[in-house]
Amino acid sequence: MKALILVGGFGTRLRPLTLSFPKPLVDFANKPMILHQIEALKAIGVNEVVLAINYQPEVMLNFLKDFETKLGIKITCSQETEPLGTAGPLALARDKLIDSSGEPFFVLNSDVISEYPLKEMIEFHKSHGGEASIMVTKVDEPSKYGVVVMEESTGKVEKFVEKPKLFVGNKINAGIYLLNPTVLDRIELRPTSIEKEVFPKIAAEQKLYAMVLPGFWMDIGQPRDYITGLRLYLESLRKKSSSKLATGTHIVGNVLVDETAKIGEGCLIGPDVAIGPGCVVESGVRLSRCTVMRGVRIKKHACISSSIIGWHSTVGQWTRVENMTILGEDVHVSDEVYSNGGVVLPHKEIKSSILKPEIVM
Ligand code: GDD
Ligand code: MG
Repeated sequence: MKALILVGGFGTRLRPLTLSFPKPLVDFANKPMILHQIEALKAIGVNEVVLAINYQPEVMLNFLKDFETKLGIKITCSQETEPLGTAGPLALARDKLIDSSGEPFFVLNSDVISEYPLKEMIEFHKSHGGEASIMVTKVDEPSKYGVVVMEESTGKVEKFVEKPKLFVGNKINAGIYLLNPTVLDRIELRPTSIEKEVFPKIAAEQKLYAMVLPGFWMDIGQPRDYITGLRLYLESLRKKSSSKLATGTHIVGNVLVDETAKIGEGCLIGPDVAIGPGCVVESGVRLSRCTVMRGVRIKKHACISSSIIGWHSTVGQWTRVENMTILGEDVHVSDEVYSNGGVVLPHKEIKSSILKPEIVM
């Protein structure tokens, strides 16, 4: 079985992290976002993943080469010369997606995180006999997504409206699709949107079906949602494989600590924290609702909450970092500094406090 992951887009909403790596390679819960998806696909028997990409394919492929062998899955690239949107890339990768078996294939947005109930989705797809299946989930603020109106009992989609201005419903497209090869006959090789041009037509022919996604879901393409996504992810890890979470008197709630990270004496960590490989957290540090990426050093008595600390950065002693502060790669914050929502570009040194949310260039 095959799958295509939509990897394009510049990830501007996740800057400054995406200034160092393409969005799918930004770590989430201690591993690149895209690995969560590739592992889930592999687990249900997908043997080839096509990355639909429109910039920096080398970075991505170099990185994933290791995982090809580790996971035993073929990973190839389909590179656009101009951004083809969310449908055009399927037409471009047509030959890679179709094989003699006529099997359906998965398509995933690269920035969504969930328990990936892909097995259930295959069952659902077989059961309705339509041309395409999509996963949907309920959200409070549907206007920034694709909204799906469906017949509750059968899942048949009546209407698909991308980013509606007026309220049509609160079930939204979760960015996980299972499509019959015939869907490719509907897509031309040009910049085109699967949400605006393809799904509404399949729905009008009553061949589009939606399944309500069991478990949590989040589009983690923006800092606030990324932090919420980590909370939901760790909550689900607690239910499914709690042995992966950290334990001890210094831990509060759900915390993920890489085995190569070092934690000093007298720290208090959690809830909802991920500490990546090679990090050093010195003594007396307080961390909550935050992500600390690979190779970071947090010095004594620093306090970090609701923030993301990018790769190989340093946070000085007695420094306080909070309120959606995002430090890019290799940022160094001095001792006894305060950051209230600072968004700091890679390779910067911060010597004085950032008193209100702002971008530090
Ligand atoms: N290859 C390629 N080329 N990929 C692209 C391109 C492109 O030109 N443009 C966007 N993508 C990829 C993005 O990297 C992402 O993985 C996916 O397509 C969706 O694009 P986003 O920019 O993240 O869209 P969105 O979040 O505003 O909306 C989409 O996702 C929502 C769920 O998170 C839509 O699919 C909505 O309907 C959906 O509800
Ligand atoms: Mg998105």
